[in-house]
Amino acid sequence: MGSQIWTLFLILASLACAAHCAAPRTPVPVPFGRNYYPTWAFDHIKYFNGGSEIQLHLDKYTGTGFQSKGSYLFGHFSMDIKMVPGDSAGTVTAFYLSSQNSEHDEIDFEFLGNRSGQPYILQTNVFTGGKGDKEQRIFLWFDPTKAFHRYSVLWNLYQIVFFVDDVPIRVFKNSKDLGVRFPFDQPMKIYNSLWNADDWATRGGLEKTDWSKAPFIASYKGFHIDGCEASVNAKFCATQGKSWWDQPEFRDLDAAQWRRLRWVRQKYTIYNYCTDRKRIPILPPECKRDRDI
Ligand SMILES: *[C@@H]1O[C@H](CO)[C@@H](O)[C@H](O)[C@H]1NC(C)=O
Repeated sequence: MGSQIWTLFLILASLACAAHCAAPRTPVPVPFGRNYYPTWAFDHIKYFNGGSEIQLHLDKYTGTGFQSKGSYLFGHFSMDIKMVPGDSAGTVTAFYLSSQNSEHDEIDFEFLGNRSGQPYILQTNVFTGGKGDKEQRIFLWFDPTKAFHRYSVLWNLYQIVFFVDDVPIRVFKNSKDLGVRFPFDQPMKIYNSLWNADDWATRGGLEKTDWSKAPFIASYKGFHIDGCEASVNAKFCATQGKSWWDQPEFRDLDAAQWRRLRWVRQKYTIYNYCTDRKRIPILPPECKRDRDI
């Protein structure tokens, strides 16, 4: 009897641990090839240290990119990126999640390059059911070309949080109660790419890519993925609710995180679709929550 209770205790303890213990305070770096493979222009990707670090090269012939092997419904995804140094005007470095369906969901980080010494812009966006138009833009509080910084997405049924290092720079709450669609039933793959977008990226397209400075090089490491892997057409995740990112402490930001988000909002935000009455005359319902930040 005593041993049965003990066994039950051990089972319960290990279940509790499965839910919480895996939460990565510092995601462990993994080699590129474990989670990712090149998508196009394979010869424009360079590998270092056995694939623990890579570079994407952009020249006037082509950009390049890579994508995750798996697709995921919810999880925590991060990439350590060092942006194109020097004159990067016209280039866009992207790290995003996207589903494959026609009414697709998407979670975007896009880093818009600039002339030497001028600041990058980080644009984020969320697409639900094929509809985007939810851009926010910030300046960063550091030069992203000088060192690697970690860009991460936390995605669960309650919220999508964009992090720069450990600072939440944006939160997109599940506002189903307000009639807003939230990505919850379409698995997403993770994509990274470097390409030329000088028709819009820098000062709205005024600054053109200076091809005499090519190749433009962005560096990547980390390659961390902690998600519920699901087949592309799955409607739910097998371990839904049981993973660390589903647990109560990840369903909302804590007080310190809200403070840091407010700091980003006050000091670094340069555009927010929620306050752009010219382009979007009717306040999108989820923006009512955004106003409280
Ligand atoms: C580039 O620098 C200019 C001048 O400082 C600034 O107005 C602009 O917002 C910067 N970023 C981009 C991506 O255009």
